[in-house]
Amino acid sequence: MPLRMKVSIILGTRPEIIKFSPIICEFERLDVDFFILHSGQHYSYSLDRVFFEQLCLPGARYNLDVGSGSHGLQTGRMLIGIEEVLKRESPDVVLVQGDTNTTLAGALAAVKLHIPVGHVEAGLRSYDRSMPEEINRLLADHCSEMLFAPTENSRRILLGEGVSEDRIFVTGNTIVDALYRNLKLAEDKRDILKRLGLKEQRFFLVTVHRQENVDDKERFSKILDGLELVNRELRYPIIYPVHPRAEKRMREFNLKPEGVELIEPLDYLSFLLLESYARLVLTDSGGVQEESCILRVPCVTLRYNTERPETLEVGSNVLAGVEPDVILEKAKFMLNRKRDWPNPFGDGKAGSRIVRILIEKFGTK
Ligand code: UD1
Ligand code: UDP
Repeated sequence: MPLRMKVSIILGTRPEIIKFSPIICEFERLDVDFFILHSGQHYSYSLDRVFFEQLCLPGARYNLDVGSGSHGLQTGRMLIGIEEVLKRESPDVVLVQGDTNTTLAGALAAVKLHIPVGHVEAGLRSYDRSMPEEINRLLADHCSEMLFAPTENSRRILLGEGVSEDRIFVTGNTIVDALYRNLKLAEDKRDILKRLGLKEQRFFLVTVHRQENVDDKERFSKILDGLELVNRELRYPIIYPVHPRAEKRMREFNLKPEGVELIEPLDYLSFLLLESYARLVLTDSGGVQEESCILRVPCVTLRYNTERPETLEVGSNVLAGVEPDVILEKAKFMLNRKRDWPNPFGDGKAGSRIVRILIEKFGTK
């Protein structure tokens, strides 16, 4: 008999699909009545569909097809569309994840309709309000009735902002669940090493896509100069699956880094495979900082702050910013780092923990 709890999962981008996947699989296993509402923020096959396929996820019941645009336009379109769907479906609870425009629109639309919101990955802060993600996560947290914090540190941050204790649940991050489940499957993608001419532990993996890094010509140029310098000095091949935002800017600014192999965005399993065999990761991605920490691959973050301080504390990650000589110095430093740090993001059971908490609150058999 299905549980009498109706859940709306609102997602729209690559990391949300990945990080929601353990929760979706648990809902299916327990026959929970749920549906996926996709904002359409990501729509290219390589940023969207491929993850549904590889993670065996059911298709979205609704896709708002909002596509790309300015923050106001994109978020506004989502708000209008999400409100309409939520009114029609009347779920008992709405789940949002992370810090994208989809996260904010989902949380805001639901709370205004008095539908309880659960925020997965609550309590992260970079304390840099110029980043769109910081505004999104802050507002999503404060619209939410249930805040699923990945770590004790996130819980403390929420308590410090006045969120009441009984609304915060420390669950671990669902990225650990997704990684543990898929790492073995990723071995099937081993031929990618051969195709790219790479040897285990003998290459660096890069991702750079943040608005503040790639939309600013000077800053993006410095990062690419830093990668060229790292390649010249340390002589490891550098492989960079390029996010469409970065690809567009690279073309517009006419940037052609030497010694950096640019490839299309990768499917999840191929990316995990490369990440697990990389000697070093250089990134501005939140999810990649977490995954590299879990995989015990040293990470150099191409930013001046992080909302994942746990990675700095355990020593899996350092902040380099965007100056080429500092990027090189930090890369050298991390190459010498002993890979023995603990994983601060949980035991791989965050998804089932979150579902159990939801059932306790909303599910009556
Ligand atoms: C968004 C999130 C960011 C997250 C990232 C994950 C916000 C504010 N930002 O950034 O936090 O880290 O997703 O990858 O929500 N584009 C395509 N195909 C697509 C989607 C986008 O070509 O399927 C291109 C378009 O040119 C678009 C640009 O990428 O203008 C940026 O897309 P957008 O969704 O606005 O932001 P992301 O940079 O992807
Ligand atoms: N990822 C992927 N293919 C790629 C780059 C990243 O599958 O080419 C995955 C990666 O494993 C991680 C997630 O995408 O789980 C991170 O998403 P992204 O960097 O786009 O967003 P962020 O985490 O910064 O919000």
